[in-house]
Amino acid sequence: MTERTEGPREEATAANTPAVGWMSRRDFLKISGAGLAGAALLGVAGCGGGGGGGGGEFTFTFGPDSSGSLQALVDRFNTEYEGQYTANYREMPADTGQYFDQIRTELQAGSGDVALIGGDVIWPAQFAAPGYIIDLSDRFTEEDRAAFLEGPVESCTVEGGVYGVPWFTDAGMLYYRRDLLEQAGFSEPPQTWEELKQQASSVQQQSGTQYGFVFQGSDYEGGVVNGLEYIYSHGGQVLEDGSSDQVVIDSPESVEGLSMERSMVEDGIAPQAVSTYTEQEAQTTFLNGDAVFCRNWPYLYALVSNPDESSITTDQVGVAPLPAGEGGESVSGLGGWNFYINAAADPEAQDAAYEFIRFASSEEQQKQRALDGSFLPTLQSLYEDQEVLDAVPVIALAPEALQNTRSRPRSPYYSDMSLRMASQFNASLNGDATPETAVQTLQEELTEIVEQGQQA
Ligand code: GLC
Repeated sequence: MTERTEGPREEATAANTPAVGWMSRRDFLKISGAGLAGAALLGVAGCGGGGGGGGGEFTFTFGPDSSGSLQALVDRFNTEYEGQYTANYREMPADTGQYFDQIRTELQAGSGDVALIGGDVIWPAQFAAPGYIIDLSDRFTEEDRAAFLEGPVESCTVEGGVYGVPWFTDAGMLYYRRDLLEQAGFSEPPQTWEELKQQASSVQQQSGTQYGFVFQGSDYEGGVVNGLEYIYSHGGQVLEDGSSDQVVIDSPESVEGLSMERSMVEDGIAPQAVSTYTEQEAQTTFLNGDAVFCRNWPYLYALVSNPDESSITTDQVGVAPLPAGEGGESVSGLGGWNFYINAAADPEAQDAAYEFIRFASSEEQQKQRALDGSFLPTLQSLYEDQEVLDAVPVIALAPEALQNTRSRPRSPYYSDMSLRMASQFNASLNGDATPETAVQTLQEELTEIVEQGQQA
């Protein structure tokens, strides 16, 4: 993946363009010196439709590009492949659940408008089964995959097929105000949730900081990840071994986990409004200097180093693995985003989309996004790249956090399960349900979803 070498895959691609024969289009165009006009003659560029069909032009979907680093990537690709391929970025909702609903509706309708989907790691099980996205295992070969981190590759793997290529990975991290902790006499960030509460209240008392801890507690996917981190770090699970059909969420460990989350609000460590917080609200509060601790993804680090975004600076901020539960361990929810190709898109657009995947997941481009936006690379080699490690401390710390990651339940019915978990975790957090009731309700609801799915 890191080299743009021509392999058997290219022969298959070239088969669509008889004039090119065994050579890849790219090499052919290079050798023949064909520019835009030549390419158009060969029918490999310039359909102008901007959709998923025809020529080398295709649509790529992803969430909002607030930093501009995504459009920069698309521009680099379009420049590099000028006259051959053109990627058009279409902005989708920032909320992964809303994005999922929107793209699923298109895929269900058999629309080929979008060729390339930058999608969440939780999607493959649901998109692979009905054949909405293509198995990329013959292009993204075993040899290619060996250069990537295992977890993200696994997130693309469904029943032996590999339905995506990892772009960047995500692990929940604890951001803390190093300066305030030091002033209050704490030389280390907390190891356990209990310790976090103690440090937070003591720092709050001394410094007058508005909130002790902010995180994502809203009724949405991010709330699910946060709730699961509490459950997992206290030894609870949702499905037996993470992916079976056996729902096991109703356990004392899960209750302890959700009780710990709820106590953040009850004990005044987190604001009551945290039950409406997504990444955005948690981020704004922390960057404003209004919280001692913040749970968020690696991207936040890049914002701390940007004075336009942040009133605190990187010297004031430390990053650590999330705290462990009492008697449990530190567990980070595994997130991240992969590239998927729409099975209904025109084959030529699919080929062009795959070229984009090769480009964007290459070492050079992943490094750029790591430096620009502190996105965690999925290529192992970049965790040994001194320039990256020096410039982006959150990446230097990531191997530790990545060792402690755990996926959300892996199930073809995940999106339904997730809606229920989002709602119950949220009810438990804002006091509408006790943690006990929340996990009992979920035990029933999730079992029903699994049973109904099995009968379907
Ligand atoms: C991040 C993660 C993604 C997760 C989402 C929840 O974007 O990468 O996996 O679903 O946050 O808000």
